[in-house]
Amino acid sequence: MNLAEWRLLVLGALCVGLGGTSGQEGGRRVSLQFNPGFANTTVNLLHVRAVGNGSTIHYLWSTIGSPTVLLIYTDSEKSQLHVNWTKLLSPTPQGAIAIDPAGSVRYSTALIFTKIFEYRDINNTANFSGTEEKYFYTPYDLSDFVWENANATINTTDLTARLKGSNGTDPTNSFQNGSISFRISAYGVSGRDSASPRLLHTANCTKLEFRIDNVKPRGNNSRFALEMITLEKGGRKKIESVRTIDDEYTPTIFEMMQLVPDSWNDSYARGFIQWKSVAYGSANGTRADVIPCQLYAPQPLNGTFTAPDIVRAFYGDDLMELYSLEAFNISFGIADGDFYDKHEFLSWSALIGYGDPPGDTFSILVICIMAVALGTPLLLLIIGAIVVSTLKHKVYTNYEPIN
Ligand SMILES: *[C@@H]1O[C@H](CO)[C@@H](O)[C@H](O)[C@H]1NC(C)=O
Ligand SMILES: *[C@@H]1O[C@H](CO)[C@@H](O)[C@H](O)[C@H]1NC(C)=O
Ligand SMILES: *[C@@H]1O[C@H](CO)[C@@H](O)[C@H](O)[C@H]1NC(C)=O
Ligand SMILES: *[C@@H]1O[C@H](CO)[C@@H](O)[C@H](O)[C@H]1NC(C)=O
Ligand SMILES: *[C@@H]1O[C@H](CO)[C@@H](O)[C@H](O)[C@H]1NC(C)=O
Ligand SMILES: *[C@@H]1O[C@H](CO)[C@@H](O)[C@H](O)[C@H]1NC(C)=O
Ligand SMILES: *[C@@H]1O[C@H](CO)[C@@H](O)[C@H](O)[C@H]1NC(C)=O
Ligand SMILES: *[C@@H]1O[C@H](CO)[C@@H](O)[C@H](O)[C@H]1NC(C)=O
Ligand SMILES: *[C@@H]1O[C@H](CO)[C@@H](O)[C@H](O)[C@H]1NC(C)=O
Ligand SMILES: *[C@@H]1O[C@H](CO)[C@@H](O)[C@H](O)[C@H]1NC(C)=O
Ligand SMILES: *[C@@H]1O[C@H](CO)[C@@H](O)[C@H](O)[C@H]1NC(C)=O
Ligand SMILES: *[C@@H]1O[C@H](CO)[C@@H](O)[C@H](O)[C@H]1NC(C)=O
Repeated sequence: MNLAEWRLLVLGALCVGLGGTSGQEGGRRVSLQFNPGFANTTVNLLHVRAVGNGSTIHYLWSTIGSPTVLLIYTDSEKSQLHVNWTKLLSPTPQGAIAIDPAGSVRYSTALIFTKIFEYRDINNTANFSGTEEKYFYTPYDLSDFVWENANATINTTDLTARLKGSNGTDPTNSFQNGSISFRISAYGVSGRDSASPRLLHTANCTKLEFRIDNVKPRGNNSRFALEMITLEKGGRKKIESVRTIDDEYTPTIFEMMQLVPDSWNDSYARGFIQWKSVAYGSANGTRADVIPCQLYAPQPLNGTFTAPDIVRAFYGDDLMELYSLEAFNISFGIADGDFYDKHEFLSWSALIGYGDPPGDTFSILVICIMAVALGTPLLLLIIGAIVVSTLKHKVYTNYEPIN
């Protein structure tokens, strides 16, 4: 064997070795339950319970009112969710959702999906915030929507479920064949999603895919935006924009956005929402259907907001005093880009989770291509250094193995 062949062999072994290290990070035993303790499918409450070493993360998805997810982090493997359904479905739901033992709750946050804006983008500038009010249609208020039975969509092997709804009255017939949906995925182990934009995830997070599917636009040149509300105890959320150099999985999209608590001084305040600045105009998420999206900075709410019942059920009456609620928008589309009516489809994915937001490192493929292309021993040394630091990075807390 000559030197070049040796080099390839060493590189090959290195790549295989690297590939083998993925997926060994802390896992969680994850279960998905529908309407715990309530044999009625007229309302949807999905409970994702993710048990790790010394902690449990509860995710509660609900369409009682605006679609909402609660993230509740507890430092006990045995913490249980209690729902008093009589109270939850009453006009005073405060206290209907509780975690036992209450003292195990270390952190919680909520993400509420409130409105979908539709506007006429006459000059194709995709300037959502600068568009005059007269070009906006009445926003779709998601708390008005009628949601299908989600029990039928649960896949306990895949840990997925779907919340699908449409406007009940639908005066413009936009929803005759169309729907809004949230596809939810939970994960037992770390990995990379197989669907675009191929987000990296850990067992500490769940993914939501927001879809506008076949909803008829109310005019020409329609564009959409989504309004969400987040909640944080005693502080605001801040935006972090992370440039990823690794372009392999989502070509041309280099920006990862995340919302995290502004003050991480409280060692437990570590919820995050993370997404790539991209949506897709087709379900298969191919490169040709990329729709860039834009985030508008969170704005504090001004008191008139009535939180969805499950938020009030868990946080009680002190909600507005103890927590700061902020609204933020994401608009879909780019100047001179295709309008919504080209596909009549839109898909945007985000992660909500606890701990450190997953970060892209150099992917194995990119490293190997670089190495083979340049093929110098010096590069091997550099890669070695990167590998060592990456591996160090990847040593998360160990959890019990998944059954
Ligand atoms: C949900 O679906 C499961 C399995 O199909 C079924 O056993 C259960 O009774 C359903 N729950 C409700 C509330 O209908
Ligand atoms: C489910 O709840 C709805 C509304 O609360 C009620 O009308 C219906 O009778 C309930 N169905 C069952 C099977 O309990
Ligand atoms: C549930 O709430 C109702 C109404 O607030 C109350 O009467 C009932 O005692 C509660 N049930 C339990 C098990 O706490
Ligand atoms: C569109 O562009 C025309 C010509 O530049 C301008 O007069 C008009 O105000 C623009 N309309 C909107 C809604 O921006
Ligand atoms: C969007 O429109 C507003 C108001 O017309 C304008 O001030 C702003 O510069 C525009 N932004 C972009 C990116 O064109
Ligand atoms: C959605 O439905 C509600 C009632 O279910 C209705 O009042 C409202 O006008 C509808 N919104 C739109 C934008 O169609
Ligand atoms: C759940 O998902 C798995 C993998 O995608 C699939 O093989 C299985 O058929 C699904 N189960 C149900 C009930 O849809
Ligand atoms: C919904 O689909 C039916 C059958 O494909 C079609 O006749 C109808 O025009 C569609 N409605 C809308 C609003 O597109
Ligand atoms: C992706 O979906 C679009 C629209 O549904 C379709 O036209 C296109 O052929 C699909 N591409 C692939 C690679 O499947
Ligand atoms: C709250 O009020 C302030 C000042 O009146 C305004 O700038 C801000 O946009 C409002 N926030 C929301 C979410 O409406
Ligand atoms: C996941 O949560 C655990 C706490 O249970 C934390 O120690 C760990 O660092 C988190 N993992 C990541 C990747 O943030
Ligand atoms: C759980 O974590 C503790 C320390 O955080 C560690 O000592 C223990 O070995 C871990 N158990 C498992 C099964 O990973």
